[in-house]
Parts: sequence; structure tokens; C-alpha cells
Amino acid sequence: MAQINPSILSADFARLAEEARRVGGEGGADWLHVDVMDNHFVPNLTLGAPVVASLRKATDTPLDCHLMIEDPDRWAPAYVEAGAGSVTFHAEAAAAPVRLAREVRALGARASMALKPATPVEPYEDLLPELDMLLVMTVEPGFGGQAFLDIMLPKIRRTRQLIDKHGLEMWLQVDGGVSASTIERCAEAGADVFVAGSAVYGTEDPAAAVRALRRQAER
Ligand code: DX5
Ligand code: ZN
Repeated sequence: MAQINPSILSADFARLAEEARRVGGEGGADWLHVDVMDNHFVPNLTLGAPVVASLRKATDTPLDCHLMIEDPDRWAPAYVEAGAGSVTFHAEAAAAPVRLAREVRALGARASMALKPATPVEPYEDLLPELDMLLVMTVEPGFGGQAFLDIMLPKIRRTRQLIDKHGLEMWLQVDGGVSASTIERCAEAGADVFVAGSAVYGTEDPAAAVRALRRQAER
């Protein structure tokens, strides 16, 4: 089953509650993808744990927090406490990914790790059982609306093979440039959780865009 996670990075930040509700409910978003950026790990700044706590109260859709920040070992637990159902930290930023994943799980959220385009998955093979999801970035993190990097398809495929080889239940998420014209390739390569920002919030009817993406991913 494909999961579609609209990214509120492409929503109107002055109306986050309303924007969250536009994609939630029946047949809508599985999770709301919340991009946290600190101006250090990526050259952009978005929001922090207080906004996540407010969003949590504004919607029933679970929150998938993607932390594009330095020192996630220090900051990730605050996002679980703020109400995130899933917390993704970057492999490139975490000092102790196993300890961090265990801490996130112990606090009651799904633990997930992200890989930038130049970071290979193979060195992390033994860590996969510690994770509930692996995120393969399909753009350089930092901004919405970038073009999908086709060169990431082999990495998605290799990640799917590793997950299957170990018989893991974990999810494989893709994020960046996912749209009507790229989602089928991602699904075919083995992804099952799809983040889409501009392809959802850049349209007149975000809920219809979510439904269309889901149909295409499940084809
Ligand atoms: C980019 C973020 C993405 C972003 C995707 O660094 O991690 O979640 O919102 O936006 P689109 O779907 O427009 O590429
Ligand atoms: Zn993201």
C-alpha cells in the first residue's frame, strides 16, 4: 500500500492549520510531512518543535517530521514530545544513529533515517533493523520545487533489496521532486512512502492531487 505524505513546506505558513486540513480526512494524506530546517545543515530555515506541537492540535493526520538539522542527537526527542508520530534524522548529521533511533522509539515514535543524494546506503545495512523507515532523498535537501534526481533510482532499488534481504517491515520513503511524472518510477524501484510538496500544494485542489498520486503509485 502506497502512502502519500504531503509536505507543508509548499503550503502557506500563515495558515498551517487550514492547509493541514485541506489534505487530511477521508482518502487523504496518510501523514503530514513537516520539514524542519535550521540554516546550518541546509541553507534554509523553517520551523521548530513549538510549531509541531501546535500543528498536532490542529489536525488528526499524524506528523512525519523530517529534521534537516545539525545535532539531531540533541534535538530529535523534542519533536517526539511535540507530538510527531515519526521522526527522521539525517545520517550525515547524527553522531550516534543507533542510540538516537532507540531513543526515538523508546519515546513512542517511529524512528527514521535520511540519506542525502551522495550518501550511500550500504554502510548502513546493519543499522536497518533499528529503523522503522529509511528516507532516500531524491533532491539535495533544502528547498521544495526542485527537479527529481533520476540518478537516485538505483539507490532506491538497492535499498529495497537490502530491506527485503533482511525480511524487514520498514518503510522506504522518497522525498524531492515526487510528482505525477516521477512517482511511478519511484514505486517501481521499491519506494512505498511518497513525500510530495509542490505536486500537492502547488495545485488548485491538494486533496485531489493526493488521490491522483496514490492511484499512480499503486498502478
Ligand atoms: C526538501 C524537503 C522536501 C520538500 C519536497 O528538502 O525535504 O520535503 O518539501 O518538495 P517537492 O515535493 O516540491 O520537491
Ligand atoms: Zn522533507
